[in-house]
Amino acid sequence: MALRLLSSRRLASAGTGIRSLSSQASAPASNSNRPQDAEDSVHHEASLPNPDPAEGSRSAQLVKDHAKYMLATYARPPPVFTKGQGSYLWDLENRKYLDFTAGIAVNSLGHCDPVISKLIAGQAKRLIHSSNLYYNSWTASLSKVLVEKTLASGAMHDAATVFICNSGTEANEAAIKFARKSGKVLDPEGSKYEIVSFHGSFHGRTMGSLSATPNPKYQEPFAPMLPGFRYGTFNDVEAINDLVTDKTCGVIIEPIQGEGGVNVATDEFLTALAKRCREVGAVLIYDEIQCGMSRTGSFWAHGHLPAEAHPDIITTAKALGNGFPIGAVISNGKVSERMKVGDHGTTFGGNALACRVAHYVVSRLTDPVLLHGVEEMSKVFTDRFEKMQAQYPDLITEVRGKGLLLGLQLTKDPSPIVKAARERGLLIITCGTNTLRFIPSLMITTKEIESGLDILEEAIKATQ
Ligand SMILES: Cc1ncc(COP(=O)(O)O)c(C=O)c1O
Repeated sequence: MALRLLSSRRLASAGTGIRSLSSQASAPASNSNRPQDAEDSVHHEASLPNPDPAEGSRSAQLVKDHAKYMLATYARPPPVFTKGQGSYLWDLENRKYLDFTAGIAVNSLGHCDPVISKLIAGQAKRLIHSSNLYYNSWTASLSKVLVEKTLASGAMHDAATVFICNSGTEANEAAIKFARKSGKVLDPEGSKYEIVSFHGSFHGRTMGSLSATPNPKYQEPFAPMLPGFRYGTFNDVEAINDLVTDKTCGVIIEPIQGEGGVNVATDEFLTALAKRCREVGAVLIYDEIQCGMSRTGSFWAHGHLPAEAHPDIITTAKALGNGFPIGAVISNGKVSERMKVGDHGTTFGGNALACRVAHYVVSRLTDPVLLHGVEEMSKVFTDRFEKMQAQYPDLITEVRGKGLLLGLQLTKDPSPIVKAARERGLLIITCGTNTLRFIPSLMITTKEIESGLDILEEAIKATQ
């Protein structure tokens, strides 16, 4: 019965979305090697509710025919997404999904923002890439705007320079190298090389970032890790002095751990950590790849902290390109002056196209109206979460996070809820241990949140 009610409501909204997207949906799939009938099925009317595509469906067929060619690094659910707009995605069977994942905190301005799409097309006709051997106007403009907006936001008071790369792990890889170089400058004998990171963190999959990610699930298959990495307990103020020593060249930490379970670092911990880094001459790196770029309602998640708790480096990626791959490392003068020409580089990083996109994204994400909206929408989520917690005290034990990086701590595996939500048209993801994570577009509306949380409640009911 509940399912039927949902289905008629969603049919109505899916119809609207299909019409408004019809011009995009009918764009020629000229370079696609997917079967044309699979592309065409995008135009079919949705059949709701949203059970996962059945065996024999076009989606299932496409997966069967093509997935074997994809190295299996992810366990994906059956839907095949073909288009997106705002907070919604559509699959090959033209089912509509409300997306509370935003491409894992990437599509902060929503899917296929029309200005970004236009801007990509325009820049692609002008200049895509000319290499780091030469200047281009957009790397320079993006670097400038990142520094200026960081300073204006009240975060990292001495932000000075920017290195642009292509992803989060590359940004952290660069930051780790900057810290190692800084250690070499301070101690040419070479004993200042240790990098400190924290349990529960996630910094990426390349060997340096992975070595800073003390999660056996990610590290063990690729052990041994790089030498010189030490791990501490998140928010343990007492342990800082023994952990960060004269041998430490850098400390990397997420002000809010995303993958680790939406764990918020205390102001006391970050302040003590920054103080200790200054005492021993270690570079403090805030990995704001997930929690930065206005996701918490200020440009950087550490923006509310006093200057003495600011980092020497911020790393960013994810939302910086709203889906176009780009990462960046913002450093203060102390770090920048220790890096010399030739110390680090990248072929693609800083290409004109990615930087053009990110330049626009930064201007939108620092709009005070948007930032205020993040706080308001956060409250819509948390008010509802508190009610849900009261209703399901045995299931929901804690509501965590800030802005639109929120987590619901559950007492059991959330996978059945994730599936039940998807089959009712809502995409949510997990993190940490039994945590449901909510990282929607920052443009999400009250109505979308309420309807998504209606679906979530249905999913919880259906799986209890
Ligand atoms: C905090 C944090 N750092 C680093 C990364 C790695 O970013 P990427 O996947 O772009 O390499 C992620 C990705 O989830 C992240 O959340």
